[in-house]
Amino acid sequence: MTILVTGGAGFIGSNFVYYLLEKHPEDKIVCVDVLTYAGNMATLRQAMQNPQFRFYKTDITDRQGINDIFEKEHPDIVVNFAAESHVDRSIENPEVFLKTNILGTQVLMDACRKYGIRRYHQVSTDEVYGDLPLDRPDLFFTEETPIHTSSPYSSSKAGADLLVLAYHRTYGLPVTISRCSNNYGPYHFPEKLIPLMIANALADKPLPVYGKGENVRDWLYVEDHCKAIDLIIRNGKVGEVYNVGGHNEMKNIDIVKLICKELGKPESLITFVTDRKGHDLRYAIDPTKIHNELGWLPDTKFEDGIKKTIQWYLDNKDWWQEIINGEYQNYYEKMYGNR
Ligand code: NAD
Ligand code: DAU
Repeated sequence: MTILVTGGAGFIGSNFVYYLLEKHPEDKIVCVDVLTYAGNMATLRQAMQNPQFRFYKTDITDRQGINDIFEKEHPDIVVNFAAESHVDRSIENPEVFLKTNILGTQVLMDACRKYGIRRYHQVSTDEVYGDLPLDRPDLFFTEETPIHTSSPYSSSKAGADLLVLAYHRTYGLPVTISRCSNNYGPYHFPEKLIPLMIANALADKPLPVYGKGENVRDWLYVEDHCKAIDLIIRNGKVGEVYNVGGHNEMKNIDIVKLICKELGKPESLITFVTDRKGHDLRYAIDPTKIHNELGWLPDTKFEDGIKKTIQWYLDNKDWWQEIINGEYQNYYEKMYGNR
């Protein structure tokens, strides 16, 4: 079987590539990634040695380029991770989010219709459900929760989800969608909360917590997300949405304090900064459906996953230091300079 993975040079996509190469060595993996600031060939160095893996530097909005890849590789399954993924960047510049996240999804699905496919899988997010109140711990996002977005990022992901379901109903395209909570683990780009705090703490730099740090996220180790997607593309029901999350809610401030503790750094590094505009209060996934239908459960507990993740950043300083020493410095200055 040939599986086309878009966005495979990014955080979750690359973890998925390695998951597949290990778990299904008989499958061919075709990776399509345009290598934006978030894509990194260093991440795929090991995969490039594997004869089952092939890489194309192509934009998912490039119709001709995508069609050429389909003609050459005849994928059986497409898993679309490619996206602009950072909420803060979407607040500064929404346009590229609409282009990649919505139009890119359309181009991929048009190619699936044209050349035929066994499955198109859209990697979506719990952010399409908006947020939950902090004082109602009894509430969770189910697959029936209405779409209700807050940021240009989440709106673009919701737009794509609606388009995916429309292609199923209108054209009969065999689609599935997964909506996962916050991931953490190796190869996480250092603009996101956990790797940013690890990198700053190691450099004894301020740890910029938005607002009061009371916002809650539901953290899942990235490999458990990869396992869920692998199950959905093989055994999931066409036309269905599956929520993915591990019942692991934490306040941002508690995560940052934990990172300080693990690294032996003082909490005095924590600096409260101006809040994110439209900041979602709480995300919490109800994963009952994927558990009951596909038997999925997360393997990694947060206390183990965060230790493994911190160790990975300690062992792979070259990987992230190369990123933060480049163009990232301008981004950081712009985002945090006057906050
Ligand atoms: P990421 O930003 O780390 O990686 C995105 C990848 O997509 C990069 O390699 C980038 O080069 C590539 N890309 C961007 N635009 C492209 C284009 N036009 N054509 C081809 N490639 C392009 O993102 P991530 O955190 O790995 O997220 C992957 C997917 O999972 C996204 O769709 C995101 O919405 C979703 N998701 C992320 C999380 C999370 O916690 N990170 C949780 C749930 C869902
Ligand atoms: O829930 C899934 C989503 O998780 C994905 O769809 C997104 O692609 C992914 O980026 C992530 O979105 P978040 O906005 O939740 O992640 P981020 O790491 O940017 O922020 C996590 C929380 O930490 C959020 O409440 C904002 C806060 N934060 C973030 C940064 C970067 C800070 O307090 N300080 C920071 O410097």
